Amino acid sequence: MALAEQAKRVADEFGFGPDAVNKAVKEFIREMDEGLLQEGTELSQIPTYVTAVPNGTEKGLYMAVDLGGTNFRVCSIQLHGNTTFSLTQNKVAIPKELMVAKTSQELFSFLAKQIETFLKTHHEEHYTGFLRRRNTIGSTQEEEIFNLGFTFSFPVNQIGINKGLLMRWTKGFDIADAVGKDVCALLQTEIDALGLPVRVAALVNDTVGTLMARSYTSPGKTGTLLGAIFGTGTNGAYVEKLDKVTKLTKSKNSGDYDKSTGEMIVNTEWGSFDNSLRTLPNTPYDKELDEKSVNPGIQMFEKRVSGMFLGEILRLAIVGLLKDPTFPLFRDENSAQNDVHSTTQIHDNSPLYKQWGLDTSFLSICAGDTSPGHRMIRQTLDKDYGVSAVSAEDAEAVRAIAAAVGRRAARLAAVAIAGIVINTGRLDSAKGTATTEQKEGINPPRGDVELSEDDVIDIGVDGSLVEFYPNFEDHIREALREIESIGEKGEKRIRIGIAKDGSGVGAALIALVAGKLGLSVSP
Ligand code: GLC
Repeated sequence: MALAEQAKRVADEFGFGPDAVNKAVKEFIREMDEGLLQEGTELSQIPTYVTAVPNGTEKGLYMAVDLGGTNFRVCSIQLHGNTTFSLTQNKVAIPKELMVAKTSQELFSFLAKQIETFLKTHHEEHYTGFLRRRNTIGSTQEEEIFNLGFTFSFPVNQIGINKGLLMRWTKGFDIADAVGKDVCALLQTEIDALGLPVRVAALVNDTVGTLMARSYTSPGKTGTLLGAIFGTGTNGAYVEKLDKVTKLTKSKNSGDYDKSTGEMIVNTEWGSFDNSLRTLPNTPYDKELDEKSVNPGIQMFEKRVSGMFLGEILRLAIVGLLKDPTFPLFRDENSAQNDVHSTTQIHDNSPLYKQWGLDTSFLSICAGDTSPGHRMIRQTLDKDYGVSAVSAEDAEAVRAIAAAVGRRAARLAAVAIAGIVINTGRLDSAKGTATTEQKEGINPPRGDVELSEDDVIDIGVDGSLVEFYPNFEDHIREALREIESIGEKGEKRIRIGIAKDGSGVGAALIALVAGKLGLSVSP
């Protein structure tokens, strides 16, 4: 069989057709409802204690830090009060050894040191003034303390606006003693040890920050419904009716929150959607990835959708093919037919043979390489992956498989977006309630009227996949149109906008709200 045909067979293993998409949407809605009722469910549906979204008029200088996946960012944000802001930031890669450090103190003291460096570099006057007054007159003023929003993008059982217990690590982090601890207190302790004028005022998931930032920068009539990340990990937070968050409203132990808006942002933690694989696709490559991960059996949706994993899925597929002696990929015979001057060689120490050796950015290169003979793909394989003299046919085979992995990820992303759009009833009216028919996909939306601002369902997104993977949104939209309750008319109403640096600005906005409430952390 020709290489192209064989590659297509492998690509087809990543198929996730309309029926599968619709089935998964129904499961997503079921898990959303279940998660609002009780703890310990697949979709965690974590109440965030954030009960209002901004309207663009908020003002002030705030700090934010963001521990996400790959990088640690420290920033200060000046909100101008007219939907704009200026942001100053420092970004450092998180040293790999700290992701799996023996103690959480090692990680959190590193973070506090980055905050100190940032203050010295960008707010030197403020910082030295604070130190001088503290050292000479022995006291400082409340206004001198920065309120800091802490974007901590892991599943946290939030028990107040600046208090939350780590439920589990994701995205390759693994530091046992942090699980069950209040991560705000862990950070505040290290900040205090360095004597910094900083108060951890709010704990924020990056998806919540994205939702807040999107609402601040593009306040629409109907508000932003959902903030979603498609980056190293994937997750979404959305605006839910407070009375549907039963596990919080009925609980005696929940902290204080403002009930006046009747809404609360809920962090779905959709990375763990369908961990039991009722509806998710499961190829041999997905299985192998999961078995060899630090957290087998969890974050099963994330392991099929997000940047940390797509490269690895593709790598496992390619390596699987290379092990098959009958498969003509990267074989001398194949390249010799096409390129008389050289023969393909894959070096023994190629990163393709190492776990995590293939970066997800390679999928973006594949999706973007429309050049004749796929020059970019061949060059990258040569330069970064130790495969020399790749033939055009080989490159096309790799491209086809990579495209299938990326397309499946986007179609899965559509499942999560659709579940939230349908279940919040936004298809019917701006703030309606979903009917049973809609949840079941029986009643397509009324969309024969012209689209007005009132009909727009606004979604803020951020992350490397939406930013750099060509056509990720197009693939999402294609799948949205195939969903019974959404269809073409519903899909047109969904507006997806990038909320760049969302987590920093969003954290500042939440710190602002929390600052007004005068909350403090007691480690
Ligand atoms: C992982 C985390 C989640 C975060 C997401 C995106 O899924 O568990 O909290 O929002 O990655 O960074």
